[in-house]
Amino acid sequence: MSVERRGVIRKVSGPVVVAEGIPDIKLGEVVDVGKERLIGEVVRISEGYFTVQVYESTSGIKPGEPVYATGKLLVAELGPGLMSTIFDGVQRPLEEILKRAGSFIKRGIKVNALPRDKKWYFKPVVSKGKKVEGGDIIGSVKETPLIEHKVMVPPGVRGEVVKIEEGEFTIEEPVAIIKSDSEEIEVKMYHEWPVRVPRPFKKRLPLIVPLITGQRVLDTFFPIAKGGAACIPGGFGTGKTVTLHKVSMYSDADIVVYIGCGERGNEMCELLTEFPRLIDHRTKRPLIEKSIMIANTSNMPVSAREASIYMGVTMAEYYRDQGYDVALIADSTSRWAEALREISGRLGEMPVERGFPAYLPDRIAEFYERAGRVECLGRPKRTGSLTIMGAVSPPGGDFNEPVTIHTLRFVGAMWALSTDLAYRRHFPAVDWLKSFSQYAEIVEEWWSKEVSEDFARYRRRALNLLTVASEIEAIASIVGEGALPDDQRLILLTAEIIKEGFLLQTAMEGVDVRCPPLKQYLLLKMMMDFYDKAYMLIKRRVPIDEIAEMPVVFEMMRVKEDERDLEAVKELYKRVMEALSNIAKKYNIPQEALSRGV
Ligand SMILES: Nc1ncnc2c1ncn2[C@@H]1O[C@H](COP(=O)(O)OP(=O)(O)OP(=O)(O)O)[C@@H](O)[C@H]1O
Ligand SMILES: [Mg+2]
Repeated sequence: MSVERRGVIRKVSGPVVVAEGIPDIKLGEVVDVGKERLIGEVVRISEGYFTVQVYESTSGIKPGEPVYATGKLLVAELGPGLMSTIFDGVQRPLEEILKRAGSFIKRGIKVNALPRDKKWYFKPVVSKGKKVEGGDIIGSVKETPLIEHKVMVPPGVRGEVVKIEEGEFTIEEPVAIIKSDSEEIEVKMYHEWPVRVPRPFKKRLPLIVPLITGQRVLDTFFPIAKGGAACIPGGFGTGKTVTLHKVSMYSDADIVVYIGCGERGNEMCELLTEFPRLIDHRTKRPLIEKSIMIANTSNMPVSAREASIYMGVTMAEYYRDQGYDVALIADSTSRWAEALREISGRLGEMPVERGFPAYLPDRIAEFYERAGRVECLGRPKRTGSLTIMGAVSPPGGDFNEPVTIHTLRFVGAMWALSTDLAYRRHFPAVDWLKSFSQYAEIVEEWWSKEVSEDFARYRRRALNLLTVASEIEAIASIVGEGALPDDQRLILLTAEIIKEGFLLQTAMEGVDVRCPPLKQYLLLKMMMDFYDKAYMLIKRRVPIDEIAEMPVVFEMMRVKEDERDLEAVKELYKRVMEALSNIAKKYNIPQEALSRGV
């Protein structure tokens, strides 16, 4: 037994406690604070004193109470049992806490992240005598009906398998013994990992595959690559949470880690009751079977909120390492930054911009840099990806503030939500003029191969048309639309069709809630081919009203909701082309004129 390393509290300031009396205390070491043994982490050491960030409410804790060092860093437990669980910011399963403490979360409660008594059926994939090293998959367990949990040799361990068995084990029982030069190591189904340290991988791989979200405005115009990072800034009530929910429900990620960070308690409640009812569209099984949730409401301690981001990203990396495509969602990173600010204030650090500490950009960067598509450590050779999407809630919806500005430096895509669009109930309120994606070009090849070669051309032209339309609108608002030349009115008409028929997408159950890539393409192609042909007619003096009044124009705005899905789009496409041909006939315009490229 080692000697107990014990100190004494000298000062308490909100979530921050100053103590002394443990000379060999380490930065980042986890300590138990006070008689109730609250969880804390050492964040600063100076002149014999050390400062602790406490992850539970410190009210009632007084100077003079003890502090116990644990010798451990803040770690996450990684192993079977993470899936389907809702954790707090320091990885305590909420259900377990509630069972033990009633609905009032008692402080100092120690609960293991992973169940110790549950037995998992372990199936080895290597046999005795095999030489293995960190990251190698040695077996698997069925963690949920959706997830095959790969049991890996923990990073850093290397040697020969001298014992491995199939059967039922708890996570504390060794499933294999690995003999290295000097010792025999028992491999269990779980291990611990310090949450502030990124997990290792063999190498980073280029991002080439899009994460398909099923949301047209994102996939087609502002895509995110698997392994990429995106932020979704937006003022109060612009639809950040709804959009991120849709992404977690309808994306093609294998696994979703959802961090509810500092949002209002009632909103979190809704999430906690709603989420377990959601169904995964691909498998028709409950979405929670492929999800981990972290719940950290605004009334929970701010320092746990600070930690929750690291807990989440570490668990996400662990499944990435198994070869999965993981999507991590953080709502909202602004609340996380506010936690940093509050703690920094308590530490008496010099604030820089709007009270935020100087290291805010570094912390934001460290978080988003943990996204990536990688060749995983170990054998068999496999790739995994971690895609990070974070909501940003700029006060007053003004993007010119530190969290938004710094976040934009480290993400590859921004889905900018517009207060104006939300006010007009245009949802998702993604502003097509302000948003951007650096992944658009690199995922073009995927679209070209998987959907259609000319997708990228349609995408660019449509985006261009929307930009030109906004300029024309500005003029129209002065001179009136009637004063515009017909070709400009056609641009406005087409932009209207794209906004109504493509960009607008309901969040309500129904055929349009998720739009697969092929349907996205066919809708856009229909609208842009309509534009090209109508343009030829206009050039030959067909009045715009003749075109605008065609019944198919209205249908183009509605066909996305047709139950017949792709068939309906294909059928409408034919009718749009026919209607335009008929106008050509009426005005004696040769049909070839219509098919000339623009
Ligand atoms: N895609 C959508 N379809 C229909 N309605 C939507 C959509 N997105 C948002 N809304 C509407 O806007 C409201 C607010 O959305 P949401 O809670 O997602 O905003 P938020 O940006 O997360 O707000 P907060 O700043 O409070 O976190 C929703 O309750 C809903 O009525
Ligand atoms: Mg929200």
